Amino acid sequence: RSEEAQTEDYLFKIVLIGDSAVGKSNLLARFARDEFYPNSKSTIGVEFQTQKLDINGKEVKAQIWDTAGQERFRAVTSAYYRGAVGALLVYDISRRLTFDNIGRWLNELQTHSDMNVVTILVGNKSDLKDAREVTTAEGKSLAEAQGLFFIETSALDSSNVAVAFQTVVKEIY
Ligand code: GTP
Ligand code: MG
Repeated sequence: RSEEAQTEDYLFKIVLIGDSAVGKSNLLARFARDEFYPNSKSTIGVEFQTQKLDINGKEVKAQIWDTAGQERFRAVTSAYYRGAVGALLVYDISRRLTFDNIGRWLNELQTHSDMNVVTILVGNKSDLKDAREVTTAEGKSLAEAQGLFFIETSALDSSNVAVAFQTVVKEIY
């Protein structure tokens, strides 16, 4: 078979959720374009990006959706979650409040998504070592209690960004 014939058309919808300014848009920018914006503005409405991933030698496409953490900038919630098979639930390790709000985001996800969405809890901004307010152990333990995957990332220094997305897509696929 030709290279092309082997390329199967998998397209998975993945959603990014979590409080404002935790770094959702920068995780996507880093993953999809290897870019980082030190002074990015709040997302308004919904943006998405399609990204190819190599999963065990197979090409898989993920359509990654990004919206605002702040209620007033968000698009219609049900449309955002509709058809999602994966989710990155993001908090900022340097702001405890964003970790305390994870339960709310999980509720929203469970309310609006139809199936068992493969979810990874992501503690972003791991580069901010001196400002850390949430330990790795706390993140891990919440993830275990809720049956989620867990990873700490940095969109700034790139650490674990690709792994975070790949973990979700691999599990779906
Ligand atoms: P909303 O769109 O409002 O929901 O925010 P968001 O979650 O998309 O956050 P965004 O990606 O816009 O990032 C917010 C701020 O955090 C920006 O100033 C980013 O530069 C910064 N930021 C994002 N990721 C990291 C990171 O890994 N490390 C550090 N130090 N800063 C980060
Ligand atoms: Mg954003």
